[in-house]
Amino acid sequence: MTPALEVSHLTTQFTSGSGKVTAVDDVSFAVMPGQVLGLVGESGSGKSVTLRSLLRLLPRTAQIEGRVIWQGQDLIGMSEKQLRSVRGGDISMIFQEPMTALNPVLPVWLQIDENLRTHTSLSASERVARARELMDLVGISDAPRRLLQYPHQFSGGMRQRVMIAIALASNPKLLLADEPTTALDVTIQDQILKLILSLRDKLAMSVVLVTHDLGVVATTCDHMAVMYAGRIVETGAVSSVFAQPSHAYTRGLLGSVPRAGTQRSQLLSIEGTPPSLSAIPKGCSFHPRCEFATDICRRSTPAMLPQSATHAAACFHSDRVIAAGSPVGAQ
Ligand SMILES: Nc1ncnc2c1ncn2[C@@H]1O[C@H](COP(=O)(O)OP(=O)(O)OP(=O)(O)O)[C@@H](O)[C@H]1O
Ligand code: SF4
Ligand SMILES: [Mg+2]
Repeated sequence: MTPALEVSHLTTQFTSGSGKVTAVDDVSFAVMPGQVLGLVGESGSGKSVTLRSLLRLLPRTAQIEGRVIWQGQDLIGMSEKQLRSVRGGDISMIFQEPMTALNPVLPVWLQIDENLRTHTSLSASERVARARELMDLVGISDAPRRLLQYPHQFSGGMRQRVMIAIALASNPKLLLADEPTTALDVTIQDQILKLILSLRDKLAMSVVLVTHDLGVVATTCDHMAVMYAGRIVETGAVSSVFAQPSHAYTRGLLGSVPRAGTQRSQLLSIEGTPPSLSAIPKGCSFHPRCEFATDICRRSTPAMLPQSATHAAACFHSDRVIAAGSPVGAQ
């Protein structure tokens, strides 16, 4: 099967007064039609910059290299005009910060309508009906009144739902969702994730879902990719990565998630903090925090090696990490 999206060697650097920093470093992954890929990693690991790089939604100081193949075309090489017809249409993005993505001076219905006018052939009355339906879908009641309001009249969680409604308006084939449910309470979070999954089933929509929540990965995603300091360090089917984490960082992440019935004292935690982009350690960038590190980790950068047909990790000591066992493998 041909992937819906194929990302190869994506590298994004920012230039500032003090030089260049690399926020996304040689990232490659593929998403199959109808697949949900979870992108996880600590704050600052490059998840949002990766998603924004795919659609070139970054400031001018960003330099993006690599290939992002979507329906046979490279989004990185595409003209801005061509890319505009893809953005918000076939590929939609839910941004991490709803306020920056919404236009503060336009009522919500106009923002949904703009998307529907650009990317569908619905008539004016069909667009009104669809806008109301989208508000219902994301759990905003009293749609006729709410649609006339402006973004500042919505709470943070409501704004996030409005943004989700706009992103889903065009029935996208690929949804890039950056922490789409963080500001929402658990019931609504559950509802939105179910909605995304039902659209995936109905439209064979592919999804890249950025989340801090490994519980969400377990219940929502088919595949996952773990990022650390701008690189993907482990990727695979969710069941395989959870059962047999093969990179020490992934093992640490899985171990730091509290689960029902688990004593707090049994949790692992990852010592230390992620590196700053201007001081990424040589070799494996995780080595200063890694209990498995040896000399080679400090000298050389580990390459991504297959663990199985659907699972790969970039760790010199995968065998020792695997032997240490999965913190969730016994579930
Ligand atoms: N416009 C920019 N200019 C310079 N550096 C940037 C810019 N945008 C992001 N960065 C840097 O790139 C790195 C990755 O940021 P990114 O927002 O992708 O992290 P993240 O994984 O999404 O984190 P979080 O979980 O907190 O959202 C960070 O060090 C950030 O400071
Ligand atoms: S390569 Fe070395 S430092 Fe990096 S995660 Fe593996 S064991 Fe740890
Ligand atoms: Mg982010």
